[in-house]
Amino acid sequence: MHYIDLHNHILPAIDDGPRTMEQSVDLARALVSVGFNTVVATPHTCEGKPAPAVILKRLNRLQAELDHRSIALKVLPGAEQHIEPYTLELLREGKILTLNNTRYLLLELPMFQPLPAYTEKLIYSLTAEGYCPVIPHPERTLDLQSDYRLIYRLHKAGAIYQVTWGALTGLLGPAVRKTAYTMLEANLCHLFSTDAHDADSPLLGINKAAAVLEDYLGPGSAQTLLIKRPRALLADQELDLPVAAKPKKSAKKKYPLLKMRRSITGH
Ligand SMILES: [Fe+2]
Repeated sequence: MHYIDLHNHILPAIDDGPRTMEQSVDLARALVSVGFNTVVATPHTCEGKPAPAVILKRLNRLQAELDHRSIALKVLPGAEQHIEPYTLELLREGKILTLNNTRYLLLELPMFQPLPAYTEKLIYSLTAEGYCPVIPHPERTLDLQSDYRLIYRLHKAGAIYQVTWGALTGLLGPAVRKTAYTMLEANLCHLFSTDAHDADSPLLGINKAAAVLEDYLGPGSAQTLLIKRPRALLADQELDLPVAAKPKKSAKKKYPLLKMRRSITGH
């Protein structure tokens, strides 16, 4: 099974990911060792920086290095764009990279500050223009943790959600875990990613997380979420998503987590 990671920080010296090419190569090796063969590099971008040309140049250098060392990982272009009032204008001007040049834009919301008042309107505008905003780690955004109706509303406005695998296994704390499972039960976890920043990240414990998902949603779900759906996204296809329900106040089933957490973190 070859997994696809739609969100990570693998490029060297461009954001809070690896500082050197060697560290990027280490992260690539780690991703391959847990089963990935394709990743989208999604460095943080804000106010049009770093520019797409800078990202692509860095990506080409990394890919050449991986090829030279026979590390079987394909790295595709992307960005994790912080929400800004003029995100749509920057997209129109070609100043933001979408995921592999598709309609899918990784649009990051603030985690600890209130969501900007224009958030829902921007999602509508992006959708009307043919883009599909993909919101990374919604389970870590305080405003969404405290208001599940808002999670549902932003989805109805056109956004889809990409949850961090580590949220399922409790690596990111109980509040994050609870939100992730509540979203999972409401069919609001559309995609998953590692959001890995370094080779030692416990977030790379993907196989354990996939097992948790299979256990919770049933056989075949990990394949859909780790391979089939990301593959369709990278081909710029419309995603076949289950109908979302309004999330309940909390997940109903018991989280299959504490044992998993120990096995992923090793302590
Ligand atoms: Fe990220």
